[in-house]
Amino acid sequence: MSINWFPGHMAKARREVEENLKKVDVVIEILDARIPHSSHNPMLDEITQHKPRVVVLNKVDMADKKETDAWMAKFRSEGKYPVALDGRNNQIIKKIEPLAIRATAEIFERMEKKGIGRRAIRAMIIGIPNVGKSTVINNVAKKKVAKTGNTPGVTKQQQWIKAGEQMELLDTPGILWPKFEDEITGRKLSLTGAIKDAVVPLDEVAIYGIEFLLAHDPDRFNTFYNINVSASDEIVDIFDAIGKSRGLKAGGNEINYEAVTNRVIYDIRNGKIGSYTFDEADA
Ligand code: G4P
Repeated sequence: MSINWFPGHMAKARREVEENLKKVDVVIEILDARIPHSSHNPMLDEITQHKPRVVVLNKVDMADKKETDAWMAKFRSEGKYPVALDGRNNQIIKKIEPLAIRATAEIFERMEKKGIGRRAIRAMIIGIPNVGKSTVINNVAKKKVAKTGNTPGVTKQQQWIKAGEQMELLDTPGILWPKFEDEITGRKLSLTGAIKDAVVPLDEVAIYGIEFLLAHDPDRFNTFYNINVSASDEIVDIFDAIGKSRGLKAGGNEINYEAVTNRVIYDIRNGKIGSYTFDEADA
């Protein structure tokens, strides 16, 4: 589900996250491994301040492995606790919990010194829409947790769910809005499905995807569509080649450009062509 974020929504979402942050020892931020920069809302850094952070690079099955390693190293160097995973895999708690334990070790040591008895680690999941927050929560909870949707302000009785041996998780995730730093960020968010409606013109999204693939993996792109194009070709010729190869005609012999646009976005968004990361770790 996608929503249009207005200032009122944003203020409400921020308030909700801030309220819930008071209850937890550690934040588990879910990012899309294909866009670790673009799927992060920097406001989180402002409001979590010094709270330890586990960073889940989710949808790792659709990301470039080398880039994922580079992002993991970058997050470690920032003092965060990163893990790359496929949120649909039901063993993920075995990867997340040890990191939450390490991330909160100091907090619990301090509590112990003050004579406060050990209790479960309290955590909450935070992220922008469609990065996989519900998938991760449901998987960790081993049950379907009611979905509030991606709308902030939908009040629901929150519960703690047992997650692993030593952790408890809030059953509702903190929802942040996708931050459009610039046009390219918007295209990446759309290309990966973080925003699904036409907030960004879809032809621009498809063209961005085509140009990215022709710059990074032209052979695979040509093989996938059974065409022979290059980055120096006119974009209309590339659309024509894909339309012809896939039989996307508007009637007569005209190419249906809207159908080509949708097909390209679908193929990239769902990892059909290959596994790519659109944000570089050292950019
Ligand atoms: P959200 O709560 O953050 O909004 O995201 P949600 O869990 O609903 O996940 C969004 C979509 O991403 C879902 O697809 C989900 O199955 C998929 N997904 C989550 N984690 C992974 C992963 O690690 N790898 C892959 N490949 N997909 C993942 P969906 O049910 O098909 O929904 P939609 O695409 O129709 O929205």
